[in-house]
Amino acid sequence: MSTPRWLRRAGTPRLEFGADYNPDQWPRAVWDDDVRHMREAGVTIVSLAIFSWARLEPADGVFDFAWLDDAMDLLHANGILVDLATATASPPPWLTAAHPEILPVDRVGETIWPGGRQHWRPTSPVFRTYALRLVRAIADRYRDHPALTAWHVNNELGCHNVYDYSDDAATAFRSWLRDRYQTIEALNDAWATAFWSQRYTAWDEILPPRLAATYPNPGQQLDFKRFSSDALKDYLIAEREVLREITPEVPITTNFMVMGETSAMNYADWAAEVDFISNDHYRTPGARSADELSFSANLTGNIAGGRPWFLLEHSTSAVNWQPINLAKRPGEIERDSLLHVAHGADAVCFFQWRQSKGGAEKYHSAMLPHAGADSDLFRSVVALGSRLGELAPLAGTPRTPARAAIVFDWESWWAAELDSHPTDRLRYRQEAFDWYTAFLDLGIRADVVPLAADLSGYELVIAPILHVVPAALTARLTGYVEAGGHLVTTYFSGIVDENDHVWLGGYPGALRDLLGIRIEEFAPLLDDERAELDNGLTGSLWTDRLEVTAAEVEVLASYKTGDLDGRAAVTRRPVGAGSASYVSTRLGPEGLGVLLAELAARAGVTSDLPAELRGRVEVARRGDFRFVFNRTGEPVDISALSPAEPILTARGVAVLHA
Ligand code: GLA
Ligand code: GLA
Repeated sequence: MSTPRWLRRAGTPRLEFGADYNPDQWPRAVWDDDVRHMREAGVTIVSLAIFSWARLEPADGVFDFAWLDDAMDLLHANGILVDLATATASPPPWLTAAHPEILPVDRVGETIWPGGRQHWRPTSPVFRTYALRLVRAIADRYRDHPALTAWHVNNELGCHNVYDYSDDAATAFRSWLRDRYQTIEALNDAWATAFWSQRYTAWDEILPPRLAATYPNPGQQLDFKRFSSDALKDYLIAEREVLREITPEVPITTNFMVMGETSAMNYADWAAEVDFISNDHYRTPGARSADELSFSANLTGNIAGGRPWFLLEHSTSAVNWQPINLAKRPGEIERDSLLHVAHGADAVCFFQWRQSKGGAEKYHSAMLPHAGADSDLFRSVVALGSRLGELAPLAGTPRTPARAAIVFDWESWWAAELDSHPTDRLRYRQEAFDWYTAFLDLGIRADVVPLAADLSGYELVIAPILHVVPAALTARLTGYVEAGGHLVTTYFSGIVDENDHVWLGGYPGALRDLLGIRIEEFAPLLDDERAELDNGLTGSLWTDRLEVTAAEVEVLASYKTGDLDGRAAVTRRPVGAGSASYVSTRLGPEGLGVLLAELAARAGVTSDLPAELRGRVEVARRGDFRFVFNRTGEPVDISALSPAEPILTARGVAVLHA
């Protein structure tokens, strides 16, 4: 990993504040109004020219930088930094007309036509030639421009084009597979091609998992997910190398999408390829919307290794791409922004600066809305800018690690949700998120960390649905527990190796000895079925026919109804000063809250909040600061933490010195 670098800029550290800026959507006269209002709001940085390819290169090889020169100069004259995009996100019509072979193809064989954006194959050599020529032209043009403070590679790589099944993808997939397996025999073994007469005799016979008569080979599917993430990472590196050659001193980033069910890009694996981590986050509507934001921000901060990161996009209010797009309620713009900051963001940016008048995102909120500056929304933007200004001393401070962690692993996410499994209802991220909510409900801070993170500093580690467990991981987790760590894992964990081959001898093969249990059969539940436990909790989704095999294992809860009556449901095996626990059913956030209270207490991890505040507030720590967020819809008395300002309004946030 390269040494992490932050923005190229002078002056004292501060939290950056800004947006995507699309001046090319507006007449020149509007730009002066833009920068005037940016200054009023305290905007310090914009991401510029993200979707400007057609404007920058109006015809093949013909570049027009005059307008961008003007915009760069104007921003610089107003003291606003530029995170300059490489503008490669949406290829122009002249390019797709001349080279339709850059268009992605879906699994059914349908072409993804131009008309939207990101209609390019990650593996197209033709696309790459044109895109890198543009990157080079932009970098050459602005290498010495004083506004240039960072490079913004493409945009949300993989937002729409991650899974491409074209012939280019097939060629690149074969070459990726050759690198991974070296020989066709090794691939045949890994993909278990003895099954269903799938044995390959030559690399050229291999295809992406296109529409098939029934379930495509699971090894092929899993490798295609790995390959698709790698193909985009490779493209990111290709742009980065051009930029590093021309401007070695300018840091590069690209906006990740650590949010919701976006699973296709293995960001833990991408993290080392950028100079600093950026994320985009849009809230998932629902009762746990702010918890999900916290979960995503927390994971982003840990993907960044605890170092500051950049919130490159979120929304001031409604988006335009959900079925029903809710406006944010009063207080939410600040609460959401500071939740990201609390988890390590040193920048708060939005999509976008000025709400579009036309185009597909005209109903998406912005910093300067259709209503204009005389609006509650713009006033809340100005207020946020000034609040971030007051928080400048936070800039550069790392997140403060928690004592407990939830492990998050893309490989297990992908593999556990493949088709042809015991149930198609299992949701990897949901289970991890349920545990996170349980921690919040108990008032215990927990980090959400990528699997590769050093776990040794955590007293309690939850590894939900840790489905893929190569032999080395078994050894690592055993070492963690033997050294005194407390590990908790769940149903469908420890089942397969890195090739998605089942560990034999009874589930969960890779963790069987560590947990001291053995499962002969899975027993998933129908949607309306529930499994009652003797501690009063209720499971859904999954149960196991579990037997305890090690004498020292304690049964923390047993099933009390149905065929599993009397069998263990939750177990805990003491190992030296540590322990290894197993939860065989889905308990949901409330049930997990009850169970976690016991598991955490026995691991010696307890809340440091007064009892009356547990669950009602989220507390996050960064450096010398403590952020207190109201998780309820009503005012909360936080006088125990903040005697000077005892009332935290609904959706309110208090920033305290620790
Ligand atoms: C993504 C994109 C932006 C915009 C927003 C809308 O984050 O990067 O260009 O489309 O979504 O929410
Ligand atoms: C059919 C097929 C078998 C097997 C089973 C699985 O019967 O003939 O090969 O796939 O379905 O249920």
